[in-house]
Amino acid sequence: MVGRGRNFLFCMNFLHRLRTYNPKTRFSSSASEEGWKLIQFTEIKPFVERCMATVGTKKEHASQLADALIKADYRGHYSHGINRLHMYVKDIKSGITVHDMEPVTVKESAATALVDGQNVLGPVVGNYCMKIAIQKAKETGVGWVVARGSNHYGIAGFYSLQALEEGMMGMSFTNTSPLQVPTRAKKPTLGTNPITLAAPGKNGDSFLLDMATSTAAVGKVEICQRKGTNMPKGWGVDQAGKETTNPDEVLEGGGLMPLGGSEECGGYKGYGLAMLVEIFCGILSGAEWGPNIRKWMKTDRVANLGQCFIAINPENFASGFTDRMQELMDTCRNLEPAEGESEVLVAGDPERKHMSQCDREGGIRYHPNQIAYLEDLAKELGVAPMVSA
Ligand SMILES: NC(=O)c1ccc[n+]([C@@H]2O[C@H](COP(=O)([O-])OP(=O)(O)OC[C@H]3O[C@@H](n4cnc5c(N)ncnc54)[C@H](O)[C@@H]3O)[C@@H](O)[C@H]2O)c1
Repeated sequence: MVGRGRNFLFCMNFLHRLRTYNPKTRFSSSASEEGWKLIQFTEIKPFVERCMATVGTKKEHASQLADALIKADYRGHYSHGINRLHMYVKDIKSGITVHDMEPVTVKESAATALVDGQNVLGPVVGNYCMKIAIQKAKETGVGWVVARGSNHYGIAGFYSLQALEEGMMGMSFTNTSPLQVPTRAKKPTLGTNPITLAAPGKNGDSFLLDMATSTAAVGKVEICQRKGTNMPKGWGVDQAGKETTNPDEVLEGGGLMPLGGSEECGGYKGYGLAMLVEIFCGILSGAEWGPNIRKWMKTDRVANLGQCFIAINPENFASGFTDRMQELMDTCRNLEPAEGESEVLVAGDPERKHMSQCDREGGIRYHPNQIAYLEDLAKELGVAPMVSA
């Protein structure tokens, strides 16, 4: 079977496998007991590169994509990891994302740069921009870089972490396809527009906030629909803009609520944060913005996403930043937990637990359905699959 029919069957198989895969269990410390299979680190990157090579991706681009996706899985954010590999393969194969260009800087000052991503893979654009931001922060204290002409870049934290590795604060933002309904409106108009801030503490400790600006990701709504359960309040609205706990109503004409949920619960603050991201990304860079961005999972035209990357050198401000940063984190962590809770965390701690487990085991554990999906993808592309440990 060739062409469309084969692709259709592959997609149906893929969707079926993802439907029975629940990324919510990602931080489970007993993943091995649940039948999750371990894939050694050394297996994963070559697999992503093999898959991307079949559609003509440059080795260097495939390598950068692999690093971004694997970092997401390693941190426990499986929704933005190699389970999206088919999407990048498809985009390069169709030519809607290009493989033979490189990002270029089109305007520059001592502390700023405007980059045209030239429609290459998002992580290639993101790495190019963050490298410039870090260099400028080394020279001037701050580097602020925005990109247009970009594509889906994975987890925002992949870029803020790069500044952290240089002892700096890092921030990153991206606009995304419209799924979020502004407070008092009824039409999905903004994306889930993530925000990240990384800040160094002492001895390798750090704060790493990395979050969407909608209350829930669309994938979580889909899981409720599949299970036939209602969603918690604050996740979504129906097509009339009324809050609903029925996932069908959200997915069929409704949309996601901003972080916080309803107006009474402060959802307008999440809406404001999503706007902040859009201003830093689409508006500042001249990329597509808000409802003008192509619809989620539709590749009828180029994405032309806007992104923003900031590096800040704490050395340019009051001395002793990392000491105070560590005290701040420890102050929160050492708070007496509320009744029924065992510990107070700071942003980045849940992911740290997941990474420790991966490090202990020498690889990343994946749900059997995700492994089966990747085996299907390998078969489809005619490449060797990953071998589980
Ligand atoms: N590229 C895109 O288009 C896009 C869009 C949206 C989201 N994303 C990515 O999706 C990923 C997941 O986003 P999310 O909003 O679902 O994340 P999340 O809700 O799992 O976590 C958000 C943040 O809260 C912190 N956190 C979690 N529990 C905590 C606790 N008990 N105490 C203190 N801090 C805690 C985490 O460390 C994290 O920094 C992010 O990496 C984000 O960048 C990407």
